[in-house]
Amino acid sequence: MSSREKVASRYDIWSPFYDSVDNFPLISRPQKVWRGRSVDMLELEGHELVLDVGTGSGYILPDIARRLNEGRVVGTDISEGMLRKAKERAERENVLDRVSTVKDDIENSRFGSEHFDRIITNFTFTTIPDPEKAIKECHRVLKNGGSMVILDTGKPEGFLSRFFFYPMMVSAKIFGRTHMDRDIIGLMEKRFHVAYREYYMQGMVYLVNCVKK
Ligand SMILES: C[S@@+](CC[C@H](N)C(=O)[O-])C[C@H]1O[C@@H](n2cnc3c(N)ncnc32)[C@H](O)[C@@H]1O
Repeated sequence: MSSREKVASRYDIWSPFYDSVDNFPLISRPQKVWRGRSVDMLELEGHELVLDVGTGSGYILPDIARRLNEGRVVGTDISEGMLRKAKERAERENVLDRVSTVKDDIENSRFGSEHFDRIITNFTFTTIPDPEKAIKECHRVLKNGGSMVILDTGKPEGFLSRFFFYPMMVSAKIFGRTHMDRDIIGLMEKRFHVAYREYYMQGMVYLVNCVKK
């Protein structure tokens, strides 16, 4: 099994329970705020074609769809289980007319070059087997001058946060094939101009807005 297939099957298994972890009391509130901020950062006017890479259960799809009148949001993932959940959410929230869910591997995307006006991705670049390849593909499918918003986890600064971070990092690697310690911002800087950044929990979570170079 390739690492891509292992990630897909891990998330297929997780898909029925994924939202219950997200709704866990201690993390649900900050997650909601951070995700909302990430969508704000797209600065949508309403006509854009937006790509949500690794949409998972489609948490941010309704929020994006409601900001679009002529535009559309495409949520992609390699896990069919997660994509089913994303589609169910869009149906439940009555936004399916502005939402598509598509099986796509961002390391080798099916979309044409310069196709999307904006790209957004929440907590996905730490799970993609080859993030450098994924960033290259995001750069390719994004229109010139387009922007990409990333919300994800990184290594925190403070001693106390690191104390909590390392056990979380190890369990995320084992159970979620997630690499919380990856330097995604560093990789982004090779192809994008990192125009704006925000850090939460001493850097354990970051939000960046990057413009295509
Ligand atoms: C931690 S989940 C995040 C889901 C969602 N964005 C959220 O915020 O809840 C990571 C998602 O990325 C997807 N993923 C991992 N590698 C991928 C790839 N190469 N292409 C597309 N999606 C991928 C996984 O299947 C999973 O659904």
